[in-house]
Amino acid sequence: MILGPVSYLDCMVFCLFLTPQLLIHVGFFETIYVVLQCLPFLLFELPHSFIHERFFVEPNKQPLFVQQASPFEDFVVRCVRYAFANIPPKVGRVFFSKSVALPFLRFRMLRHGYVKSPVHWNEYRDKRFKGVWIIQEPMQKPDVCVLYAHGGGFSMGSSYFYLEFLITWLSLLRSAGYRNPAIFALEYTLVPDGCFPTQLQEAIAGYEHVLLMVGDPEKICVSGDSAGATIVLSLLLHLANLNRHLAKMSKVGTWHLAKPGMAILISPWVTLVSDKHRNTASDYLDAGNLHLYARQYSGKHIAAEDPLLSPGNCRDVEWWHKATPSKGIYLTYGTEEALALEIERLTKFWEECGVNFSSRAESGGIHAWPVACLFLSNSSEDREKGLRAIVEKIRRTI
Ligand SMILES: *[C@@H]1O[C@H](CO)[C@@H](O)[C@H](O)[C@H]1NC(C)=O
Ligand SMILES: *[C@@H]1O[C@H](CO)[C@@H](O)[C@H](O)[C@H]1NC(C)=O
Repeated sequence: MILGPVSYLDCMVFCLFLTPQLLIHVGFFETIYVVLQCLPFLLFELPHSFIHERFFVEPNKQPLFVQQASPFEDFVVRCVRYAFANIPPKVGRVFFSKSVALPFLRFRMLRHGYVKSPVHWNEYRDKRFKGVWIIQEPMQKPDVCVLYAHGGGFSMGSSYFYLEFLITWLSLLRSAGYRNPAIFALEYTLVPDGCFPTQLQEAIAGYEHVLLMVGDPEKICVSGDSAGATIVLSLLLHLANLNRHLAKMSKVGTWHLAKPGMAILISPWVTLVSDKHRNTASDYLDAGNLHLYARQYSGKHIAAEDPLLSPGNCRDVEWWHKATPSKGIYLTYGTEEALALEIERLTKFWEECGVNFSSRAESGGIHAWPVACLFLSNSSEDREKGLRAIVEKIRRTI
């Protein structure tokens, strides 16, 4: 099931689902306060910068993203940039939550004629973790499985917000020839409800569960975007180094878990805090806020240099070699994103020490575009481009 592009009607319906949830979870007065605070931006700043940059700046002086973005993409990215820098995370959290995202997906499905989903999904939880299984044939063993950790700065996002993206991914895996592809979307604890190492422990338990369901580790691809990719890298480092860190991670089982077949990282936030993070005219991330989230995720007691917390800090060649999946790592990011220089610093190190990886830098691209474009772009070619590259990589590998 691949739904069509997001329409203006979809946007209105989304707001319709969002409003009551904001009133419930954020409260009447605070919601009004946040809306009032946004008004100067929405009424003056946004139309002014939009019109000015698109129509009065020479094309070659425009930010790279603006040069290639459609008006809708440009408009939404400006709003997201403002929201990321100015709106409290607890509002963002409602925006991306299950109670808004799931009815929205159901609406979009209905609009495309699906009363019932052609793809099976169900929530799974046990004492240690929870998540959502998405699978073509739940009664049969998957022939490929993606363990996915969503992004959102550790403080926002949910598997349900990513459900349409993941179902599209599953459909493309089917078209690529897999008989019964599956995706397990990890629903890790968000900050400030819990901080490191809770999320890593959940990822380890989730991986163990996926391994049990799939059987063959070579058929597993671990993946995530942004903060989710941080957790995936931490998971890989952990799997390679059970002994050294077992003492710290007392709740985790002591048996050895085989490493996955491959890893796919979308705009990974490799190092939590770095002076190489920068605000760009194109991207919507704000480096200052990233570091704020990073501190919340780290909690009080952990050294920020700990590679399990901030994998980009790991400069241990042998550890990386042991951590790299048997068929390597594939990494995709945009050259204009706030995290690009730090990603390149790590891949340069990997290259020097012979880690098996490949990467694709989208010129003029911004953060997590393979995810965002599905919702913002118009033609199916543009919307599915990032995912198709990922699926092709999986097909050639697993
Ligand atoms: C490196 O990864 C590729 C797939 O991306 C795989 O085909 C190859 O066998 C790997 N090489 C080594 C030395 O592990
Ligand atoms: C979106 O794409 C469709 C065809 O897929 C086209 O007819 C329509 O004009 C496009 N809309 C915009 C706003 O570009």
